[in-house]
Amino acid sequence: TRLWRGVIDEYRDRLPVSAGTPVVTLREGGTPLVPSPWLSAQTGCDVHLKVEGVNPTGSFKDRGMTVAVSKAAEEGAEAVVCASTGNTSASASAYAVRAGMRPIVLVPDGKIAGPKLAQAVVHGGIIASVDGNFDDCLRLARELAETYPVALVNSVNPYRLAGQKTAAFEIVDDLGDAPDIHVLPVGNAGNISAYWMGYREYGADGMSTRLPMMWGFQAAGAAPLVHGAPVEMPDTVASAIRIGSPASWESAVQARDESGGLIDMVTDEQILAAQQELSGREGLFVEPASAAGVAGLLHYAQHGRLDPARRVVVTVTGHGLKDVDTASSFYGEIRPYPVAADADDAAEALGLTR
Ligand code: F0G
Repeated sequence: TRLWRGVIDEYRDRLPVSAGTPVVTLREGGTPLVPSPWLSAQTGCDVHLKVEGVNPTGSFKDRGMTVAVSKAAEEGAEAVVCASTGNTSASASAYAVRAGMRPIVLVPDGKIAGPKLAQAVVHGGIIASVDGNFDDCLRLARELAETYPVALVNSVNPYRLAGQKTAAFEIVDDLGDAPDIHVLPVGNAGNISAYWMGYREYGADGMSTRLPMMWGFQAAGAAPLVHGAPVEMPDTVASAIRIGSPASWESAVQARDESGGLIDMVTDEQILAAQQELSGREGLFVEPASAAGVAGLLHYAQHGRLDPARRVVVTVTGHGLKDVDTASSFYGEIRPYPVAADADDAAEALGLTR
C-alpha cells in the first residue's frame, strides 16, 4: 500500500493541470467503495456504495474543488465565490484558505444545514445570506464573478466537473470494470454530468469494457429535470438538492440519454426512510440528499423496474453529520437510559441479564 495523494496527483494525466499548476489539495478522493449486503438483498443486485462523505470536508465537492482552486491559484486569483446549498461553500472555504485566498459564499437565507454553515465559518468564509433560493444565489455569484476579480467555483466552472469525474475512475479501478448501473442524487446536475464524462473517458481509453446506465434521482419537490421545466419554488427536506433550475441541465439530460438511463424523483418520505435504512442496517450515516439515490433504487426494485443480478454503484454524496437536525427530528427526542455509574445498576436499566 502507498499513500493516496489526492485526485490531482492520482489522475494528473486526465486533468487540466500542468507542472506549473500549484496543487491545492487535502488529499481528497480515494473514497471507499463499500458493498451493501442489505441493498443487494432488497434488489437482487450486487450493490456497492461510493461513500463520498469521507472526503476532507465531508462531501464529494472536494474532488472538484481541488482542481478549481488549484487553477484559480495558477491564474493568480485572490478570492473565490460560490453559491451553495451548503456543501460547496464548506469545500470552497477550506480549499480557498489553504491557498491563501478569500472565500466568498452566497447561501440561501436560513436554508442550509447548520453544520455546513459552521464549516464555512471556521474556514474563514465571508458569508452572504441571500434573500432568495439557491438559484438566485447562483445568478448572483455569476454576476459577481463577471464584474469583480473573484473566481467562480460553482460547477459551471469546468474544472469542478473535471475533478469530480475522478470518482468514476476510482470505481472502475476498484471493480475492474464499470458497473451496469450508476445511481446518484441530482441537484444542480453537475455530478451526474461529471461521472458520465469520467466513465466515457475511461471507456474510450480501454480502461473498461462497458458504460453504465446513469440513473439520477431528484427530490419530488425539486424535480425540474423530471418535469422538463424549472421549478419556481423548490422544496424538499433534502436541502442540499433544493434546486429549481440546475446549471448543468443539458449535460445531465445528455448523460441520461446517451447512457440509456433515467432521471426520476423520490418523495421526502422515501428519502428519509432510505437514510434511516442506511444508518440502521448498513452502518452508514449519510445526509438526506445523499439518500435520494438509494431511495430511487429501492423504489425501482420494489416496482419490478430493476433487472436482478446487475452490478450497481450508488454514490452517497455527503456525510450524515452534515445535517444532524433533520436526522434527529426524524428519530424524535433522544432519551437515553439514565444509569448510575455502577455495573449492576446499568445492567438492570439496560436489560442485560447474566
Ligand atoms: N448531494 C449533496 C450532499 C449535495 O450537496 C449536492 C449538491 C448534491 C447531492 C447534488 O449534486 O448539484 O452536482 O447535482 N450540492 C450543491 C452545494 C448544490 O451547493 O453544495 P449536483
